[in-house]
Amino acid sequence: MNTVTRSVVTGVGGYLPDEVVTNDDLAKFVDTTDDWIVERTGIHARHRAAPEQAVSDLALVAAQRALAAAGRTAAEVDLIVVGTTTPDLTFPATATIVQRKLGAPIGVAFDVQAVCSGFVYALSVADGFVARGRSRCALVIGAETMTRLMDWTDRGTCVLFGDGAGAVVLEPGEGKGDTDDRGVLGFALRADGTKQDLLYVDGGVSTSGDIGKLRMQGNQVFRHAVVNISEAVLAAAADAGVDVADVDWFIPHQANQRILEGVAKRLGIDPAKVVSTVATHANTSAASIPLAMDQAIADGRIKPGQLLLLEAMGGGLTWGACVVRL
Ligand code: ACO
Repeated sequence: MNTVTRSVVTGVGGYLPDEVVTNDDLAKFVDTTDDWIVERTGIHARHRAAPEQAVSDLALVAAQRALAAAGRTAAEVDLIVVGTTTPDLTFPATATIVQRKLGAPIGVAFDVQAVCSGFVYALSVADGFVARGRSRCALVIGAETMTRLMDWTDRGTCVLFGDGAGAVVLEPGEGKGDTDDRGVLGFALRADGTKQDLLYVDGGVSTSGDIGKLRMQGNQVFRHAVVNISEAVLAAAADAGVDVADVDWFIPHQANQRILEGVAKRLGIDPAKVVSTVATHANTSAASIPLAMDQAIADGRIKPGQLLLLEAMGGGLTWGACVVRL
């Protein structure tokens, strides 16, 4: 019988910094209210990294927890891909800093920059290594310190984001080539650079020379999000050969509760199947999907063997979706 090599998720881990910032905390210095933020976004609070914590520190803890869940050690890791838009330094890649801090002596390490779609993009890249036999133990990490990109005078953006990190371990596993296989089953990745002005950071190495601040036309982003994400979800399901109705859990990028609900409604998904962490995590960009996975595995909702659909949209615009059987 023919077999195919799949990239199997064997461990998931997450890390949120200790400090919790509530909407009322923000209302002390920006013209907003808890009621407005909750009604428009579903966000009640977000975590913020301590001043001495770099994004690699957040990523490190998430990676260590994912490795522990997989029963693997740092010595076995031969690939680290970090999805981040808030790297420690312009170079080297945050992935190589995580490699050093983790004490992972072998392999390849690099970053993927697709903003809030970073985890889905990074997973696709790592799948290319693992499913082709070029990695035996890969760490795919989404890690962000989004609070460092905020203009704290802009109430339209600064209330939306938080810090955190999530990680998964990918290992090769043999499957029959059908939808019962464990592992990554299908993807749809998209980008439309003509929509840059809707969501971007107004600084960078080769332009302003500083890191800049996040700028967003929120209502325009919102308008594109539900349509774009829904199309990518259907395309990823078709790529995997599954029906959206067969999916056990939808794990969206956590930008806004209204976007989560809008996508679920458009696709006829039972809201009870949608994992939502936006209330307490806010938008942690590339970290939000693995953090949500980690939470729903830890609380017993997601079980081994279940079919998961991950989806995200972010600056670029970039967006995409992925089907995984745990
Ligand atoms: N508190 C109080 N009022 C506010 C706030 C705030 N924090 N922010 C904006 N407002 C006001 C605006 O000034 C505006 O006032 P006006 O009518 O007097 O001009 C009013 O609220 C309505 O503003 P809108 O921007 O039209 O409000 P909207 O309902 O669209 O909600 C929001 C704004 C929450 C940003 C929403 O558009 C959204 O969530 N968009 C998607 C954002 C998103 O998903 N971004 C992340 C993508 S992923 C990534 O890559 C980073």
